[in-house]
Amino acid sequence: MTKFLIEGDRPLRGKVAVSGAKNAALKMIAASLLATGPCKLRNVPRISDVRVMIKLVEGFGVKSQWDDQHTLTLDPTRVHKADPDPRLVKKLRASLVLIGPALARFGQISLPIPGGDQIGRRPIDTHLNALRQLGAKIELKNDTYHLTTPKLKGATVFLDEMSVTATENTLMTALLVQGKTTIHVAASEPEIANLAQFLNNIGAKIRGAGSPTIEIEGVKQLSGGQATIIPDRIEASTLLLAGLITDGEVTISNLDSKYLANLLPTLERMNAKITIKNSQVTARRQGNLKPVNIDTRPYPGFSTDLQSPLAALSTQAQGTSRIFETLFENRFNYVDELNSMGAKIKILERHTVEIAGPTVLVAKDLNTRDIRAGAALVLAALAAKGQSVIENAQLIDRGHERLDEKLAKLGANITRIED
Ligand code: EPU
Repeated sequence: MTKFLIEGDRPLRGKVAVSGAKNAALKMIAASLLATGPCKLRNVPRISDVRVMIKLVEGFGVKSQWDDQHTLTLDPTRVHKADPDPRLVKKLRASLVLIGPALARFGQISLPIPGGDQIGRRPIDTHLNALRQLGAKIELKNDTYHLTTPKLKGATVFLDEMSVTATENTLMTALLVQGKTTIHVAASEPEIANLAQFLNNIGAKIRGAGSPTIEIEGVKQLSGGQATIIPDRIEASTLLLAGLITDGEVTISNLDSKYLANLLPTLERMNAKITIKNSQVTARRQGNLKPVNIDTRPYPGFSTDLQSPLAALSTQAQGTSRIFETLFENRFNYVDELNSMGAKIKILERHTVEIAGPTVLVAKDLNTRDIRAGAALVLAALAAKGQSVIENAQLIDRGHERLDEKLAKLGANITRIED
């Protein structure tokens, strides 16, 4: 168990580089099952979810080695059929993305219903319906999905919704089948484009990844190769919000502002001054923060992963903010914790919160339930008077590489305690 102790009420100032994107790294590690030679991945974040995904592919015979702090070589020369370790699958919902590579490479996989954050229903029907359109057979027995591919063939697939991992699974399943596959209603996240870049580097023929229509020309075999993981736009956004909630000024030093295109206009509407210079983005307040009215949407809409950090910031705005969470129905589990600190947040119905601001936040003992709720609690604690304790901070570590050290570099008084 990990705790963060945070002595708040100090402005964060300075420059910080963000780590590689969790949601790109996890998929590339899974995709290594498809390669026939060593794959070198650069800018891999050293986070616990990455460690779990590496263990999962090792279960298929992939050899892994860290060449330096952030460069990971995965050697799939001796991969073999396997079923992922159910204990690991239960830890990580992203283990779902093993389905595509395993079906393409071995024609089968059995996977227990995956675990991960409890942030909503998150059914996997979108995945299953898409894979059926490619010819997969699926059975659910004793809470385990058994997937086989007696006959896969290229197809025109319409996803039920713009699901990130369903897009990735469909894409990877189609890589080695004969003929052309077109995925419509694909999710457009930059991490999907980054995954496709890696796959194309090792011999795949994918066009349009990062847009709602993706085309895949099946190839016989993939090789080895390399890729660089893009910076984590959610971590970058969280750090910019940390600067704003503490009335400081934070610069992200290694991120093309295009990755924040769905955040920066919202911050400007809230009265933040955003400065973009080369690959540096800076945010500070121009005066009092204004309230916000926003819906989360699939990319390029406002990210659901930033819903809780934005709610934390909105506690400091002059007026009533409203956030409509269109994707998940259980992503408000930070509300009671923030209210215990003095915030005035009301859950109007399962999908909407109303935040009355500004409120003075006071330090409290807080408990986090997931990565992004944890980020919201960290932000609130940074702004609060007194010392807060954030329990279960290992959940924050699932998605952020040394967030405490990055914040300390910006002037936060934060201590990590491992029990
Ligand atoms: N959904 C909608 N409408 C849509 C698209 C999705 O209601 O148009 C619903 C789905 O029914 C589902 C939920 O939204 O319940 C999640 O969507 P999706 O299937 O895209 O989520 P995912 O693929 O399971 C990935 C990220 C999440 C991120 C979501 C949305 C990974 C490993 N996970 O999950 O990341 O929140 O996309 O962008 O890539 C996180 O990093 O903390 C995290 C949870």
